[in-house]
Amino acid sequence: MLCAPSTKAATLRTSATRALATSTSHHNAAQQRRSMATVQDAPPASHAKELQDQDRIFTNLYGHHGADIKSAMKYGDWYKTKEILLKSHDWLISEIKTSGLRGRGGAGFPSGMKWSFMNFKGWENDTKPRYLVVNADEGEPGTCKDREIMRKDPHKLVEGCLVAGRMMNVSSYGYTTPMKRTSVPNVRAYIYIRGEFYHEATVLQRAIQEAYKEGFLGKNACGSGYDFDVFLHRGMGAYVCGEETSLIESLEGKPGKPRLKPPFPAAVGVFGCPSTVANVETVAVAPTIIRRGANWFNQFGRERNAGTKLFCISGHVEHPVTVEERMSIPLKELIEKHAGGVRGGWDNLKAVIPGGSSTPILPKKTCDEQLMDFDALKDNQSGLGTAAVIVMDQSTDVVRAISRLSKFYHHESCGQCTPCREGSKWTEQIMQRFEKGQAREREIDMMQELTKQVEGHTICALGEAFAWPIQGLIRHFRPELEARIRDHDKRVGPSVAGGWREGSEKHGMLISPGQ
Ligand SMILES: Cc1cc2nc3c(=O)[nH]c(=O)nc-3n(C[C@H](O)[C@H](O)[C@H](O)COP(=O)(O)O)c2cc1C
Ligand code: SF4
Repeated sequence: MLCAPSTKAATLRTSATRALATSTSHHNAAQQRRSMATVQDAPPASHAKELQDQDRIFTNLYGHHGADIKSAMKYGDWYKTKEILLKSHDWLISEIKTSGLRGRGGAGFPSGMKWSFMNFKGWENDTKPRYLVVNADEGEPGTCKDREIMRKDPHKLVEGCLVAGRMMNVSSYGYTTPMKRTSVPNVRAYIYIRGEFYHEATVLQRAIQEAYKEGFLGKNACGSGYDFDVFLHRGMGAYVCGEETSLIESLEGKPGKPRLKPPFPAAVGVFGCPSTVANVETVAVAPTIIRRGANWFNQFGRERNAGTKLFCISGHVEHPVTVEERMSIPLKELIEKHAGGVRGGWDNLKAVIPGGSSTPILPKKTCDEQLMDFDALKDNQSGLGTAAVIVMDQSTDVVRAISRLSKFYHHESCGQCTPCREGSKWTEQIMQRFEKGQAREREIDMMQELTKQVEGHTICALGEAFAWPIQGLIRHFRPELEARIRDHDKRVGPSVAGGWREGSEKHGMLISPGQ
């Protein structure tokens, strides 16, 4: 468990001071090796370095101390923030690139590169305001990490807004080159929090107010000469509002329907101004990375998959938990070390959804050797997503589990694109029939084809989100689907494609699909 508070705080402060002092030389060395932490061009990392308690960024995940500013400062938050703010945005962005941080919201895009898009050529002369929008919608089933940060460690996020905002020169007039004030109010960062997170919103608002009181936010934030405001905006709890352009629409007061990209938010975002949407965890780790140094963060995990990460483990384990671990940790080690193992032992495992409900399911034999990072999971045709690990033991009806997810995605489709609006309805109906075995075997291939027709043909990735779980089911559990159909044939008689029973129409027994 976590080490004693005073030791921990002292360790954090010492390493932070050292990192800030030496970070320039590290940075120069890193710059000589390469220019950007892209997926193609990341530094080699020392593999499988064990994570010690003092390496954990989120020191209060289990609520051992208060969420108030005094406790947060004791554990290293708001330490030398002014010094960080006084560094140049180029230096700060470089550190994030060197650290290898990839977005924690699902897609895993390199954060340093994404954030650098805000500092496009000539940004100093752009008279428009510029916004950082923190995505605190956390709607992906199985995911419960951002809410833990907001409940227990809110100051990590509030300080993160300031530091990440500084890197992107978020402002309504410039930092180094004052720009003309526009009629838009002087707002710099929004935190868009899902409506149901009432408690989290309360704790976070309190943390924001504390930061203002201490002079860490507002005019001349931390005495840096930089003005910075943070606004909390409560959403209404629609899953699709977690998608960045839909979130922007909702923030602007419109129905939360995704926009076509391009233009990307860095060019045309909130109120038509340059904006970056970033996940809570991504933003919250930024100050610690800067304080302790990019190379410190980069030593964990594998090449291109660096750092520490929050994993949410739920389902058929002894102790469901959200835990911070090194990236690339083996799945088996993660579950056994932190969640007390699979209910009934590892051999009782049937399958795992490794990164939240939209990532394809993996069977036990893949899980035996699976590493938990972006690339290793992609290699096995799944994804790290939000690192929400849903464990299913042998008692699980996997067809029913995926069918339930199809129902969820149909419910959450915003209806703008035909493949998603209609496809999510059809897949829900077909999955309900698959559950009962009321189908023909060739319909499994038709279902696969249907999901392939949706993939890549929609405005936002909700299309993929409902297609991928079904593809994973067919890939790994096809025999289970076929056995169910054979069993149904034996009990009730063969179904015709579409779900109607042979001759049922003649007998006034027309059964519509999905019923
Ligand atoms: C349907 C849908 C829902 C999403 N929900 C969330 C969410 O709840 N939280 C989140 O951070 N990202 C969510 N995303 C991803 C965001 O669009 C965006 O990529 C992310 O917030 C970027 O942050 P990052 O760069 O820190 O990863 C969602 C994407 C889609 C397509
Ligand atoms: S893919 Fe679905 S949720 Fe996304 S914009 Fe299209 S209809 Fe809406």
